Amino acid sequence: MPPRKIIIDTDPGQDDAVAILLALASPEEIEVLGITCVAGNVPLALTSKNARVVCELAGKPDVPVFAGCDRPLGRDLVTAEHVHGKTGLDGPNLPDPVMALAEGHAVDFIIEQLRAHPPGTVTLCPLGPLTNIATALQKAPDIADRIEEIVLMGGAYFEVGNVTPTAEFNIYVDPEAADIVFKSGTPIVVMPLDVTHKALVTRPRNDAFRALATPVGRAVAQMTDFFERFDKEKYGSDGAPLHDPCVTAYLIRPDLFTGRHVNVGIETQGALTLGMTVADWWGVTDRTPNALFVGDLDADGFFDLLTERLGRL
Ligand code: RIB
Ligand code: CA
Repeated sequence: MPPRKIIIDTDPGQDDAVAILLALASPEEIEVLGITCVAGNVPLALTSKNARVVCELAGKPDVPVFAGCDRPLGRDLVTAEHVHGKTGLDGPNLPDPVMALAEGHAVDFIIEQLRAHPPGTVTLCPLGPLTNIATALQKAPDIADRIEEIVLMGGAYFEVGNVTPTAEFNIYVDPEAADIVFKSGTPIVVMPLDVTHKALVTRPRNDAFRALATPVGRAVAQMTDFFERFDKEKYGSDGAPLHDPCVTAYLIRPDLFTGRHVNVGIETQGALTLGMTVADWWGVTDRTPNALFVGDLDADGFFDLLTERLGRL
């Protein structure tokens, strides 16, 4: 089976960083065509720097990294330094990148790659707000039928919101972009908080990262040590939730995850519910199912996979 060709669209973010490391550590299953950066956890200047920091940490400075949209389609940018720190990658002390940004805009890279490869052979993996993906779909509507699948981290239903009572951060930052993506007709797999809040870096799991005794193992342990503060304080969680690595792990071991194919709509008007992913989990509407909404995972299997793969870098 040839490796799956993917574009990672990201706003690093410690959990984005772990998702990127897992992808780069798995060349048998995943070929990363490029990394496109978007404003989200921190402004674009930092997300596009952090993505390069992570590629160099992985020993992969040849992965093309593009800067994309620096704000949502039609709203002011909301960031999350209170979660990720002022750099977006607080925790480890990693060197500034030597590799330069690739020439050109992230949106054009996404369009070019989808047009250059046969239809149905490139998967998009958004890990942040969906601004780049929506902009690409608006600029080149023909790509919707060429995308193999969109496997994204975002949204919440039974778990409700992490940035408002009803909305998860990635969707909340750019709900109009999310609405465009969920109405695109492209096959979508959603990793919402419902599943990512079950992927917690408990102390033994963090110890296993550190026990790798490698720069990558140490950096991931330090990232998740820093990143867990917010969720521990808010939810009393037993460790940092590894949201974005659920996307990469799904590509490698989909059997670790379970969900339901349902209709997911995006609230773009509600004063109280803006950015909510309205999942018709019980099939009470006649709205056509448009996404696999993942609700559970084998957490031990996920961390065994992640730790083994990180150990390869
Ligand atoms: O709500 C969690 C999501 O928002 C994750 O992707 C995290 O990196 C932030 O982008
Ligand atoms: Ca992210």
